[in-house]
This record gives sequence, structure tokens and C-alpha cells, in this order.
Amino acid sequence: MDGTTTVTTAPVLILLGPPGAGKGTQARMLEEKYGLVQLSTGDLLRAAVAAGTEAGKEAKAVMASGGLVSDEIVLAILKDRLAEPDTAKGVILDGFPRTTVQAEALDDLLASSGQKINAAISLDVEDAAMVTRISGRFTCGACGEGYHDTFKAPKVAETCDKCGSTDMKRRADDNAETVASRLEAYHAQTAPLIAYYDNKNTLSHVDAMGQIDQIAKDLGSVIEQATNT
Ligand code: AP5
Ligand code: MG
Repeated sequence: MDGTTTVTTAPVLILLGPPGAGKGTQARMLEEKYGLVQLSTGDLLRAAVAAGTEAGKEAKAVMASGGLVSDEIVLAILKDRLAEPDTAKGVILDGFPRTTVQAEALDDLLASSGQKINAAISLDVEDAAMVTRISGRFTCGACGEGYHDTFKAPKVAETCDKCGSTDMKRRADDNAETVASRLEAYHAQTAPLIAYYDNKNTLSHVDAMGQIDQIAKDLGSVIEQATNT
């Protein structure tokens, strides 16, 4: 046994939630547990910025301000990534969609290939927790594993538990001022998607204020129900 749980179809799962809700942390755990592919538009955009592509150049200042990158850029990046063969295993969308335009474009894209969203899961958290979570975050530059100074410290200081790298990174947009703008953008432009998916009967809620492992169990229950029916 390799610890991977098999799901019957190629699921499409959405993790909705504000900055610091734990989307990335949980998506990586789900990836390992179910053999799905995490698809984070934030990670894809940061890679485009680092690579200095045209899209990356446009996205850079917007991301630094805490606003949302244009639907056009995000949709182009997402479509390219979805076209890669590994996504046939099923995907966990982390940080996408973030606007109604993106949600409608995703519906059209999936419909054109006979797929559907199995579950849109809202990670419910209080705004007050966000700054503490984000200000303590760091990530392994080699394998992408996420950590927190207090809540998820590596076993050996500054050393990745997963791959042993000591190349730890902190995000440029993880400062108090930008976090406030990111939260504002979430409430204005992304939170309405909770009602959007509720109206389509694909919405579930998971309390994301507790321990990381408990949240993972609760998410697993929702996903197993959504993918086996
Ligand atoms: P993105 O990278 O998606 O950032 P975000 O939505 O602000 O979310 P975060 O990555 O900050 O939080 P998370 O929920 O993943 O939390 P994590 O698991 O790391 O987007 C960045 C920017 O890119 C946007 O501002 C925008 O400009 C642009 N962008 C991206 N997608 C876009 C789109 N679709 N459209 C337009 N623009 C887009 O956890 C945070 C910390 O808390 C970690 O240290 C973790 O260890 C810790 N933690 C996790 N869970 C818990 C817990 N239960 N208890 C205690 N600590 C916890
Ligand atoms: Mg994230």
C-alpha cells in the first residue's frame, strides 16, 4: 500500500477561501491522499513572474498591490495548465475561480469536455486569523511544501521535512498592507462565488479554524461523498 486512496472518476474540486485559509496546505495534502493534481493560479502566476513572461510582467505589480490579476491572463494560464496530461487524474483548483467571469468560463470549459465540478468547498475562517497565518508562512523553494513559524514548523529548523532543502522562501505579498488589500479583494470579488456554487448545488462548507489534520479529515469526507456518487 502506498497510502493513496483511489477515487472512481476524475474529479474537479474547487477550494474557495480567503488568503491564508489553508487552500494550498490542504490542496497538497489532498494531492498526496487522492492522487489528484493541485492547480494553484497563485503558484502559476508566481512562476510566470519569476520567468519574466509577458503575462508575468503584467501580473507582477497587481499581485504586489494585493488586487486580482485580469481574468484574461488568469484564464489563459489556467487553460494552458489544464491542457497538460497529468490533469486527467483530476484536479484541485486552489485560488481559482476568483471572479464570476472566471467561474462561468470554467463551467464552459468543463462542459466542452464533458466534465463537471464535483464539489466547490468553502474553507470557512475568520478574518482575524489570516494575518497571523500569513505573517508566519514560509515555503520550501525546492519542493513547494508550506510551513508556518508557529503552526507548522519543520522538524529541523529551516529544513524541509519533505525534501531536506534549506532554501526557504517568504512571499513578497505576505505583508500586513498587502494582506489587507487581498482580503478586501476576496470579500468584494470572490466571496460572491459561495452563492454562485450554492445555487448550483455543488457547495460544501468546511470549518477551517481548527487543526490542519482535522480540516484534512473533514475535507476528505466531503470529497469522498462528492466523488463516489
Ligand atoms: P494566492 O497565491 O492564491 O494567494 P491567496 O488566495 O491570497 O491565498 P494564500 O496562498 O495566501 O493562502 P492559502 O489559503 O493557500 O493558505 P496556506 O495554505 O498557504 O494568490 C496570490 C495573488 O495572485 C492574488 O493576490 C492575486 O493577485 C493573484 N491571483 C491568484 N489567483 C488568481 C485568480 N484566480 N484571479 C486573479 N488573480 C489571482 O496557509 C497559510 C499559512 O497558514 C501557512 O503558513 C500554513 O502553514 C498555515 N496554516 C494553514 N492551515 C492552518 C490551520 N488550520 N491552522 C493554523 N495554521 C494554518
Ligand atoms: Mg496558497
